[in-house]
Amino acid sequence: MRVAFLGLGRMGRRMARHILDAGHELVVWNRTPGRAEELLAAGAVAAADPAIAVRGADVCVLMLFDPESAADVLAQVTPAAKRGLLIVNCTTVGPAAARELGSTAATAGLRYLDAPVIGTVGPAEAGTLRVLVGATDDDLAAARDILETFGDPEKVEHVGAVGAASALKTVFNLGLAEGMAAVAEVLRYGTELGIDRDLLLRELAAGPLGYLVNYKRSMLETDDYAQVAFTVAGLAKDVRLATAAVTGRLPLAEATLEITSAAERAGHAGDDFAAMAAADVPAPA
Ligand SMILES: NC(=O)c1ccc[n+]([C@@H]2O[C@H](COP(=O)([O-])OP(=O)(O)OC[C@H]3O[C@@H](n4cnc5c(N)ncnc54)[C@H](OP(=O)(O)O)[C@@H]3O)[C@@H](O)[C@H]2O)c1
Repeated sequence: MRVAFLGLGRMGRRMARHILDAGHELVVWNRTPGRAEELLAAGAVAAADPAIAVRGADVCVLMLFDPESAADVLAQVTPAAKRGLLIVNCTTVGPAAARELGSTAATAGLRYLDAPVIGTVGPAEAGTLRVLVGATDDDLAAARDILETFGDPEKVEHVGAVGAASALKTVFNLGLAEGMAAVAEVLRYGTELGIDRDLLLRELAAGPLGYLVNYKRSMLETDDYAQVAFTVAGLAKDVRLATAAVTGRLPLAEATLEITSAAERAGHAGDDFAAMAAADVPAPA
């Protein structure tokens, strides 16, 4: 198949590599030039803009940042795409935007797969991501070969119609963010009580927050969050998508955003989300 891959960030460039390795024809585009070198060396072709990238393509994968960037790039794709082009949007955009993007694609005569992924740079590199799919049976069948290049075939899950996968993805990431906020807060609390950091981490690792503490243990031990899997800004974006998806309040999500904002103010927006533990939450005035 001829595949256009738009968005070569931390996740995108790793996912795109599997499409190429599976023998598909790959055309890539990224807003900031210079991110495609390895892919080009392996046989991909660079396009100057999204419209050029999708000319003649059968499938177009989007791996952008948020609903706005996905909508912006899709708007450049629709006038240039051939009828029936299958858009596979792996960007985490939330359920409302997924439905809007799906309807924009349908209006332009394109097919649309809501396909957010679970798993970070390790599974992206290994081609073992979990792919949640919101789509018709036919569109999933048409995209399956591509999804199974970067996703584990056992973990490609059809959740429902367009929007359903993005809904589940925000549930997953809200849990991740609130869990990390809890780790950050209990660490800060224990530190303020004068408890030794190693002892704190050992106790927390053995308790209910153990999964996240063990997952981010080396960063929490060294206070060095530069080895990024997923950024503070990215996770904060996903918490905002969750709070916007419901009419009622999500008080824990709101508190979590206070911690991500404090981490961002401390210069950690582009660091790994474990840097929420380095947030300096101000005392009440
Ligand atoms: N990292 C993870 O562990 C992970 C796991 C699962 C899902 N996700 C989701 O996957 C998506 C990508 O994550 P990532 O970690 O790969 O992020 P990233 O490294 O920040 O990459 C974001 C990509 O989006 C592009 N982009 C941002 N704003 C744009 C705009 N206005 N117009 C065009 N392109 C734009 C960036 O281009 P530039 O290079 O020009 O900035 C880059 O290619 C996000 O939706 C994220 O929530 C991430």
